[in-house]
Amino acid sequence: MIIIDILKTIKARRSIHTFKEQEVDAAILKEIFTYGSYAPTHYMKEPWNIKMYQEEGKHKFVDAIISSYQRIGMIKTDESPKTLKMIDSMKSFLLEIPHHAVIYFEKDDNPVRYEEDYASVSAFIQNAQLAAWEYGVGMLWTITPYMHDPEFASDIGLNHDTMKIAAVMQIGYPKKVSHDKGRTAIEEKLEIIAK
Ligand SMILES: Cc1cc2nc3c(=O)[nH]c(=O)nc-3n(C[C@H](O)[C@H](O)[C@H](O)COP(=O)(O)O)c2cc1C
Repeated sequence: MIIIDILKTIKARRSIHTFKEQEVDAAILKEIFTYGSYAPTHYMKEPWNIKMYQEEGKHKFVDAIISSYQRIGMIKTDESPKTLKMIDSMKSFLLEIPHHAVIYFEKDDNPVRYEEDYASVSAFIQNAQLAAWEYGVGMLWTITPYMHDPEFASDIGLNHDTMKIAAVMQIGYPKKVSHDKGRTAIEEKLEIIAK
């Protein structure tokens, strides 16, 4: 029964940290994000936008990440063998991931609207993650320091003043699925106030 499948997927989905080389078909990616877009959205704003980096397109994205890490001070800027080796291994790690999806939305000046949009985009991401799982596709939801670097935004063609990067999703077919860490019993989080 379909409903049971959805419930199973909610529990079975895992964050994926290592991906096979094979790319995900454009048609499947389109399906996955179409399911994502059935997320609830106040005023039907559908605030989500996606920049999908893949194939040769990954190079400019990864270069922007490295430059940002150097600006932030997470990677040195010298040209010592140690630094160059570190940059090299970070680059190859990132380039081996088949797809990187930058999920972003327009910043609303109104803080309540901003929160609604952020929440809706998060629901979009989770819907997409669950749909992806159904197609055998894995994702890792990441929030990293470069997402807060205005120059990084500009390097990927976004204006930091007007656009918020909500997440970068790493996407591909899972090489390894980590074990289920389980969750705290909901009774520990749930307080029922009945009178
Ligand atoms: C908003 C958000 C940001 C996350 N950022 C990262 C991240 O930067 N790196 C990472 O390895 N995992 C990240 N995760 C994934 C969590 O580590 C993961 O969901 C958690 O360990 C539970 O594992 P599961 O998703 O397999 O159930 C993020 C998850 C969320 C919701």
